[in-house]
Amino acid sequence: MQATHPIGVFDSGYGGLTVFKSIADKLPQYDYIYLGDNGRAPYGNRSFETVHEYTLECVEWFFKMGCPLVVLACNTASAKALRTIQQQDLPHMEDPSKRVLGVIRPTAEVIGNYTKTRHVGVLGTKGTINSGSYEIEISNQFPDIEVHQQACPIWVPLIENGEHNSEGADFFIKKYLDELITKAPQIDTVLLACTHYPIIIDKIKSHLPENIKVVAQGDIVADSLEHYLQRHSEMESRLTKNSTMQFFTTDDANDFNAHASAFFGRPVQSNHLAI
Ligand code: DGL
Repeated sequence: MQATHPIGVFDSGYGGLTVFKSIADKLPQYDYIYLGDNGRAPYGNRSFETVHEYTLECVEWFFKMGCPLVVLACNTASAKALRTIQQQDLPHMEDPSKRVLGVIRPTAEVIGNYTKTRHVGVLGTKGTINSGSYEIEISNQFPDIEVHQQACPIWVPLIENGEHNSEGADFFIKKYLDELITKAPQIDTVLLACTHYPIIIDKIKSHLPENIKVVAQGDIVADSLEHYLQRHSEMESRLTKNSTMQFFTTDDANDFNAHASAFFGRPVQSNHLAI
């Protein structure tokens, strides 16, 4: 059998499936492996060291599986582990020509196209928000934009536990949005800077004034990956193109299958990975 060289797509759990969906729709020709580290999710409240350790373990696993390119479809991992992996870990690996990409830079590069008032709200996990990554990246790209951040620490646990449609969830969804809008009423654009949040996008919209645009990252990251592969033919030519998809979870595979389709938009058959 010929070896496959898939694109790896990683998240702490289910959220990255919202990005993978856009990537697979836009670039269906490639082979893919998705890994959700559900067994250790959520990452959002964990330390830099822990998020780096977990993310690196998963990246090394993708490399062993033959992936020359891994997309961290997780803002928390992108904020807390990507730079260390790119600058300190990758150069010492067996094949330093492999690549790991994140979701923050590509999102920051286009966010200026959405806002007129130049006031953007950023919703994310505590880890993403406290890292200040969006403030830094957006101000590099668009110095005229004011970024208003809001950590929503309860949202990912609610979503990972399948409780996001409960009445209790509504209370916490509204709570963080009210806090954001009260501190920055000039906001006209709210960025979902956590790949889990698109699953509650309708609820988020329903608690925000109608004039506010709510931006999810999936299509932005898929466009950016397409452009990356156009610019990097040395990477593009390494990737195999048989349109296959494999799904792995570090938690229970049946449980993953039951929840994943809501994020991915089609049925998912996963395998358990002991990491
Ligand atoms: N989907 C991840 C993100 O984008 C989630 C976080 C978590 O595990 O807390 O930040």
